[in-house]
Amino acid sequence: MNDHGDHHSEHAGPHQHGHGDGDHDHGPPIWRGLMSFVYPILHRNPPSNLLMVEVAALASGDRVLDIGCGPGAAVRAAAPLVEEAVGADPSGRMLRVARRRSRGLPNVRYVQTPAHHLPFEDDLFTVVWTIHSMHHWGDEEAGISEARRVLASEGRFLVVEQFDPGKPWGIDEAGIHRITSMMGDAGFADVEWTKHRVGRTDEAVMVGRT
Ligand SMILES: C[S@@+](CC[C@H](N)C(=O)[O-])C[C@H]1O[C@@H](n2cnc3c(N)ncnc32)[C@H](O)[C@@H]1O
Repeated sequence: MNDHGDHHSEHAGPHQHGHGDGDHDHGPPIWRGLMSFVYPILHRNPPSNLLMVEVAALASGDRVLDIGCGPGAAVRAAAPLVEEAVGADPSGRMLRVARRRSRGLPNVRYVQTPAHHLPFEDDLFTVVWTIHSMHHWGDEEAGISEARRVLASEGRFLVVEQFDPGKPWGIDEAGIHRITSMMGDAGFADVEWTKHRVGRTDEAVMVGRT
């Protein structure tokens, strides 16, 4: 922990891969279309996804929802540790890759949907997380409120964004404050954030509890 309450942890273990863990789908539609092909190839096993599984401290009875799961690396990493792991993403292309890569995992399923409209009953999950996705959500407030609705009591909501004010998809302290405030407004308790060094990037992890 440093003076700002930031926890720095290194994740240079066997899961580490050579390049960074940014995303590439900012820009005109044709670029975004191309990147939905390229992203799953470049980010097969993103360190940010493994960080999330680690900080979520999963238990065998957990039911996990990954909002904006993309190709589903975090869903697959969580699956052996929990009762059920569900990925949600509005992109059919991402979900095709996620489903292909998750064949044979009996407790994994994927649902095509944006964050602001989760087709799940209230209190269904014990853990909801989102990794490098919230900055894409058209309505963050609605997505956070949906996360709160589908979480059971004593559940947790975790948000990972890259801590890098210099990148279009990066977040700074003001952005973190904005998101953690929205989490508090949505009814999450004990909202806090930590910063983690993962490979060559810093990741902000925001957590709230139900
Ligand atoms: C940079 S990718 C991250 C994917 C994955 N979480 C990962 O870490 O590899 C961003 C993902 O957010 C998804 N996304 C975009 N808009 C969204 C929305 N409104 N609700 C939920 N997910 C969204 C995209 O389809 C994409 O899969």
